[in-house]
Amino acid sequence: MFWLTLVTCFLFVSWGTAVDVNWYKNIIVYQIYPRSFKDGNGDGIGDLNGITSKLEHVADIGAKALWLSPIYKSPQVDFGYDISNFTDVDPNYGTLADFDRLIAKARRLKLKVIMDFVPNHSSNQHPWFQKSIRKVKPYDQYYVWRDAKIVNGKRQPPNNWLSNFGGSAWQWNDVRKQYYLHQFATAQPDLNYRNTALNQEMKNVLTFWMNRGVDGFRIAAINFMFEDAKFRDERRSNKTGIPKDDYDSLVHIYTKDQNETYVTLKSWRKLMDEYSNRTKSDPKLILTEAYTTHDLTIKYYNAGSNVPFNFMFINQLNNESSAMDFKRLIDKWVRTVPKGSVPNWVVGNHDNHRVATRFGRGRADDVILMSMIMPGISVIYNGDEIGMVDRKFTYAETVDPAGCSAGRNRYHLKSRDPARTPYQWNNSTSAGFSTKAKTWLPVHSDYKTLNLEAQRDIYITQYEKFKKSMMVKKRAVVAHGSLNITLCDSRILCVMRAYGRDRIFVLFGFIDVPITIDAETVLPFPSDLVVHTVIGDSELRPGTFVLSGSITIPASGAIMFATPNLLSSNDENL
Ligand code: BGC
Ligand code: CA
Repeated sequence: MFWLTLVTCFLFVSWGTAVDVNWYKNIIVYQIYPRSFKDGNGDGIGDLNGITSKLEHVADIGAKALWLSPIYKSPQVDFGYDISNFTDVDPNYGTLADFDRLIAKARRLKLKVIMDFVPNHSSNQHPWFQKSIRKVKPYDQYYVWRDAKIVNGKRQPPNNWLSNFGGSAWQWNDVRKQYYLHQFATAQPDLNYRNTALNQEMKNVLTFWMNRGVDGFRIAAINFMFEDAKFRDERRSNKTGIPKDDYDSLVHIYTKDQNETYVTLKSWRKLMDEYSNRTKSDPKLILTEAYTTHDLTIKYYNAGSNVPFNFMFINQLNNESSAMDFKRLIDKWVRTVPKGSVPNWVVGNHDNHRVATRFGRGRADDVILMSMIMPGISVIYNGDEIGMVDRKFTYAETVDPAGCSAGRNRYHLKSRDPARTPYQWNNSTSAGFSTKAKTWLPVHSDYKTLNLEAQRDIYITQYEKFKKSMMVKKRAVVAHGSLNITLCDSRILCVMRAYGRDRIFVLFGFIDVPITIDAETVLPFPSDLVVHTVIGDSELRPGTFVLSGSITIPASGAIMFATPNLLSSNDENL
């Protein structure tokens, strides 16, 4: 099977430093949302120095790489995804010198640093856009401008395209006397990838950050980069009960997933490969964000993405999904990943409800455990490792543009604020996130008990469970072992990994009450497996053999058995 081919391969270069071409193939990537992770200067907004001060935590959870959501200079309309300078740090977050210090400490802790790269649009405050408005060459072509359509003598947008944040995707500009395209907020004009000079500019941005030591990029909203060259109207979807100008009211065949996207991605892959070859450094990691079909996601592998985000835990599975639903989707993913590539498992991110809110606390732990025992890359959103949940926001408190533009009656359907509240470090002021009592988003009120420090002090907490399940990620059995997913009965998903003599065997219970089963009928190797990790309330203690008798899987929980050698936290050289 494909992961058997992932033999560790170190290429030695002349002066003895090893280039590890497989460094990313079986790791945890930890997403940091900089505004909400740690505030270093007490202004209520997270920043780079705050992150640097907490990198030990990233190492502690066993992550190999951290991905920073945007820290670039930005008016913060979309909280950093509206960039006014692609090669500078926003003063809210610090300076380039702070960034260099973050990289240096990450190196010492053997952590790779991945930047968010936002190619689809810039801020309307970007000097390129300001010059584009005035038709200054070559910037005049950097954005997607179109003439108005005149209907009954009145000015109308060139076509019916809609913004992801609602309303027309076109905005009139009175200076240029044309409309510009914005697939997201009005303040986020789409860049024009049909222009050669713009393509080169964006390559220069990638090189700038690679020169500063960045190990890869998470490419934001990649499938929005190109639009139909003929600017055809999109047809209406059959979704009912939504406003006429809601993004979901159209079928997006002309504004998403265009074939040219893959061609541009290939050119970035080439640029990064040439860079790492030239500098004799580890290959750069490319992660791509595209909410799209299975086939179009898989296609990103062939265009050079190492991690085309697999969002199945976010948009295909939820707390009502059955054991069979999980089996079907996981098998399909693993089966369709191209040879030599690895699967990935995104547990959560800043754009969706928190995993503990989507699945409920118990099952969220199951999902995290699943992401750890599957081959490949587990992508964890900051706070999910301690079981943080969504905070409810009033409309008045809402700041996310997706929520604000949906209006008072619908903001709760669109706002992403609930999953973006400050990280809960301890039970002091603002959960230890900031010394300031008023933070950019309010801290969740459950922080007094739900915080990292509290969880460090108590045995078998959320965080302990997370750490135990993460330990197996580093083992050869997870990286290279065979994978076999079966249903022990319709409510129990059994996942088995085997490599040499090492075995992992996990029973996931898909029911809200405990299920008792006969050990001998389910355990494949009763003589050599011990309890490794238990999700949920149970009498079972790690390290005990369960040779016969009955086993009770906790309500919405799981039991992981393993060969005893896997109980220790020894890292393996994969
Ligand atoms: C980000 C979103 C953002 C969108 C538009 C995505 O990649 O994850 O938070 O709103 O891009 O910029
Ligand atoms: Ca700050």
